[in-house]
Amino acid sequence: SVDHAIRPKRLVDYIGQARVREQLDIFISAARGREESLDHTLVFGPPGLGKTTLANIISAEMGVGLKSTSGPVLERAGDLAAMLTNLQPGDVLFIDEIHRLSPVVEEILYPAMEDFQLDIVIGEGPAARSIKLDLPPFTLVGATTRAGLLTSPLRDRFGIVQRLEFYSIDELTEIVVRSARLLGVESDREGAMEVARRSRGTPRIANRLLRRVRDFAEVRAEGRVDAVIADLALNMLHVDHHGLDHMDRRLLLAMIEKFDGGPVGIDSLAAAIGEERDTIEDVIEPYLIQQGLMMRTARGRVVTRQAWEHFDLAPHERAPD
Ligand code: ADE
Repeated sequence: SVDHAIRPKRLVDYIGQARVREQLDIFISAARGREESLDHTLVFGPPGLGKTTLANIISAEMGVGLKSTSGPVLERAGDLAAMLTNLQPGDVLFIDEIHRLSPVVEEILYPAMEDFQLDIVIGEGPAARSIKLDLPPFTLVGATTRAGLLTSPLRDRFGIVQRLEFYSIDELTEIVVRSARLLGVESDREGAMEVARRSRGTPRIANRLLRRVRDFAEVRAEGRVDAVIADLALNMLHVDHHGLDHMDRRLLLAMIEKFDGGPVGIDSLAAAIGEERDTIEDVIEPYLIQQGLMMRTARGRVVTRQAWEHFDLAPHERAPD
């Protein structure tokens, strides 16, 4: 992907998520000292915060190989068996969207995680045979948006569980400064901070916006990114001053205009804006909730006073058409 060049490769280059970094540093050093593989690690949090990056960093820090796949790609037991039997001792097996594993595939994973045993049935009917194979020790790194999406037997088999949080503006500024340097973009600190402020707490978004701001700067400002150029470019991209994008505004405005601010059930909301419920829950609302623009309550989603104010509305006022 385009992010390959700027993705941090070692833990020291990884900015933010201080608690995660500190803990992984200790667990990795300890495992290395014992010459063991790292315990299975579950990483969860909203998209774009660095789950895949951490899997890559874990393999680099452990000095082992990495094999990557994802829950939906592993359709049959044999698909996972093929991955497992291809591992070298100590390797990291990264399964993205691990909450989307089918139950039959998940069943194969349990003894593999617990005892490094592959239990698989081959053939059908009277010719069916059950075979057991020893696997090399390996580290499963699983990634998911919400830990609660995993079945509890799967979740219980991870010795290390790390939650990624949205990045602060200072942390994102550091990331943008670093990315600008690696991409050869001339940016002052205020320009980087403006991109950071408007990136929904998410490095993937910050790096994407940096590339678009660079395009704008190259055509309109001799390639130099400062706060004014960043602001103009981000306005052009319809990223507002709070960093909310089109989908964020659509969700909040639907709650305000169609449901008088809520409470509204998630399925009604999904229907009202024509989005998948999962997209709202995993991608859109976590940031809006973290920013105090909306809340989840037992009776449904509600916007906060801050959301009305964001659109220059008094609470329960309707937006003009
Ligand atoms: N690029 C994307 N995420 C990053 C992070 N957490 N640290 C440094 N660079 C990054």
